[in-house]
Amino acid sequence: MDCSRWKMGFHLMPPTGWLNDPNGLCQLRGTYHVFHQYSPAWPAPDAPRGWGHFTSWDLVTWEHHGMVVQPDTADEASGSYSGCAVVMPGAAADGGDALRLYYTGNVKEPGDFDYIRAGRRAAQILIESDDGMALGPKRVILRNADYPADCTCHVRDPKVWRDGDGWWMILGARDVEDRGLILLMRSEDGVLWTSAGEVRSPEPFGYMWECPDRIVLDGRVHLSFSPQGMEGLPWSNGMRDQSGYVPMPDGTDLSAPGASVDVRAFRRWDAGFDFYAPQTFTDETGRTLLIGWMGMPEPPFDSAPGGLTWCHCLTVPRVLTRLADGTIAQLPAPELERLREAEEPLAVPGTMVLPGRRADIELAGIEGPLRLTLDGGLQIAFDGRELSCTFIGDACLPDGIGAGRTRRSAPLESLSSLRVLVDGSAVEVFAEGGRTVMSTRWFPVADALSVSLDGCCASARAWSMGDGMPDPAEA
Ligand code: FRU
Repeated sequence: MDCSRWKMGFHLMPPTGWLNDPNGLCQLRGTYHVFHQYSPAWPAPDAPRGWGHFTSWDLVTWEHHGMVVQPDTADEASGSYSGCAVVMPGAAADGGDALRLYYTGNVKEPGDFDYIRAGRRAAQILIESDDGMALGPKRVILRNADYPADCTCHVRDPKVWRDGDGWWMILGARDVEDRGLILLMRSEDGVLWTSAGEVRSPEPFGYMWECPDRIVLDGRVHLSFSPQGMEGLPWSNGMRDQSGYVPMPDGTDLSAPGASVDVRAFRRWDAGFDFYAPQTFTDETGRTLLIGWMGMPEPPFDSAPGGLTWCHCLTVPRVLTRLADGTIAQLPAPELERLREAEEPLAVPGTMVLPGRRADIELAGIEGPLRLTLDGGLQIAFDGRELSCTFIGDACLPDGIGAGRTRRSAPLESLSSLRVLVDGSAVEVFAEGGRTVMSTRWFPVADALSVSLDGCCASARAWSMGDGMPDPAEA
């Protein structure tokens, strides 16, 4: 099987091996840093997991620096797990900005344990760096004994921010009654931490909350997290694990006793097949950008088609905006438009074959129902009530281009605009100015991309897209 057509042009993918969560997202001294969970030796069993590292000046052309955080201390023997970055203005030796990385060291003790209530250690580890490239020594700042007594061994994924003179950290956790929650920690210096509260849901909402994040847009706080164990709940969208945010009422004090999230306001970030564990950061222009893992921890999404020497990718950077109704819109960072090459005419209705396999498709002034079909197998449709993403015909078979993906949908009352980014083996759909987003991996077999449009719209434009990724052969 020739897998080269599945290589990405603008979605971050590992040169080889396994990638999951984005970590340590930041912009330091102009450079964008995207660290990520990385197991270069995948698919070898128990391949060590640490942090890989991409950098970019423009969010378009990227360089990969290999596995830069290795699980090489006793406190991370089973993996250097997810974490975040904090930019420290003026803290470097040369007076410039420095970086702190916070992450979880995961240890599974040898023995016969359930690894939930016993046999697992979760240390929070700090690394400092003056330039984001040369990383300083590792310092353990929190251990299991520092977490509340009703927590299981599952405590991880620190997200840290500064507030006035103090520091806050949130951690994802699972309690002894198998309920997910967020732990809050407080510090004066970002090194010595004490427990400062717990944020829970009054209703059952999954057994573990991974990758918590705190997002401030227009002065309003939103808590984002990825709950595991959502089967049977209305938010599941057919998935075991989900990922979304809750807008917090004005003035909420996360450290108040009994602090809670109202999960009735939980909104999925992405209604597609492949999206989990996102992280956000604010860049030097003040924009809040989100990047998610385009993968899921559950079958059949947790593997790659045979022959592929790498697994998973990240979403494109998405700019977040708070809308008047309190929800968050997500749109691709405008920088990506620099990868647009020749504009290709799109007939409506009609079918066009575009040169190559990568495209940016933009429809505006849509009226009524619409169907956009890629390669005759992936159908993105609006029927007046919902937006759906369906692998049709043979495409939905386990060995079809959807590799076992079938159909996902999200309620949508009206559709006037649609943006679809098509990469080697990833598609991201942004409907209605980014109010509804759907992402999926796909594994097409044709040499060129065919786009069929059925419906009515005032403007239909498409561009073939260039390649900003490093060549895997050079890694
Ligand atoms: C989420 C997650 C995190 C953990 C990391 C390990 O996908 O399970 O909770 O830190 O992946 O790779």
